[in-house]
Amino acid sequence: MKLKVLVTAGDGIGPEVTREAVSVLQEAAASGGHEILITEGRIGGIAITTDGTPLPQQTLDAALASDAVLLGAVGGNEFNSMPPNKRPEAGLLGLRAALGGFANLRPAFALKELAINSPLRAEIIDGADILFVRELLGGLYFGQPREWDREKGEAWNTMRYTREEVARVARIAFQLAQKRRKKLTSVDKANVLEVSQLWRATVIEVAAEFPDVTLEHQYVDAMAMHLMNRPRDFDVVVTENLFGDILSDESGVITGSLGMLPSATIGGKVNLYEPIHGSAPDIAGKGLANPLGAILTSALILRHSAGLETEAAAIETAVRKVLEQGFRTPDLARTNPEGLTVLGTCEMGAKIREMVKELLVHA
Ligand code: NAD
Ligand code: IPM
Ligand code: MN
Repeated sequence: MKLKVLVTAGDGIGPEVTREAVSVLQEAAASGGHEILITEGRIGGIAITTDGTPLPQQTLDAALASDAVLLGAVGGNEFNSMPPNKRPEAGLLGLRAALGGFANLRPAFALKELAINSPLRAEIIDGADILFVRELLGGLYFGQPREWDREKGEAWNTMRYTREEVARVARIAFQLAQKRRKKLTSVDKANVLEVSQLWRATVIEVAAEFPDVTLEHQYVDAMAMHLMNRPRDFDVVVTENLFGDILSDESGVITGSLGMLPSATIGGKVNLYEPIHGSAPDIAGKGLANPLGAILTSALILRHSAGLETEAAAIETAVRKVLEQGFRTPDLARTNPEGLTVLGTCEMGAKIREMVKELLVHA
């Protein structure tokens, strides 16, 4: 099969990690005789500098003509004083809206090899395996009106959802829970917000279609704590846009680094794949970035856009095996460098590529 993938590497460590993700993706696909056709498009800060806009029309057209889009990261300190609709991040939000995917799947899992890298005790995180389903096209990110009225010294955003927007993402979360441990946690702030009351009522309605899934509700503030105290109790977690953004970064504590977390956005015209971390300006350009989140994201492309489960699983196994062998990027060797081999971004990419080859070609 042939798969057309648009790569929008973006800013900071974006190009560094996507380079490795693409080469692993191509290695995995080639082993089964599949072809990945890569095209590149500018987005974010690099597009502002080159094209005068964070989402050039050319990138948008190319994205809509692709089977999948792989994004690195956008953002940089030099753009921090710009208004939200002109910033690099606006390019990413525009791309998400145009592609139409509303269910952002963010798996977070504890790997035994990385337990020592987490500030949480090993017995708390051992076996934790959570799938966040973050609603991606609603809430405060897209709600109108929104404005900063400088004269009045007042600013407002709007958290808004329709019943249909909640129902469609809830349905996907229930379906995913059916294929896993059949437990769904819906996170809201229904003790304070009307939007959350609509959210909760709608999730309860949809639950009637999935009698085999156990549904529970948590308030977002308590959930932030439960995630750190008892992460193993959660299977699929569905929540609105901003809550999902915050809780998914928090779950980086369970995996040992933000640099480990992949994501896939489904339900729209073209699926969008992005590691959940940002452009990491503090380490950009130094070859220190962990490419594993981006590499695990490439596995999700094979799974969700190409139906190549064997190849997707091989990438995930390769990541585990390379970690088992003691190889780490600097973010994964913070507290325990002894006995480990610390690798840069490219070297880690090469290790995974070799392992994927061994698993798929020499198997
Ligand atoms: P960040 O995720 O870029 O970095 C947070 C911390 O985690 C930093 O210390 C960074 O060095 C570290 N980190 C992140 N990814 C890493 C990796 N792969 N390997 C090793 N360490 C890693 O978040 P931030 O600093 O809050 O934001 C920086 C910029 O990125 C901002 O402009 C923000 O808007 C943007 N951002 C973009 C995306 C995206 O494009 N999807 C996501 C989050 C943040
Ligand atoms: C993420 C990021 C983005 C978000 C920003 C960069 C727009 O933090 O993908 O988690 O808030 O969705
Ligand atoms: Mn985020």
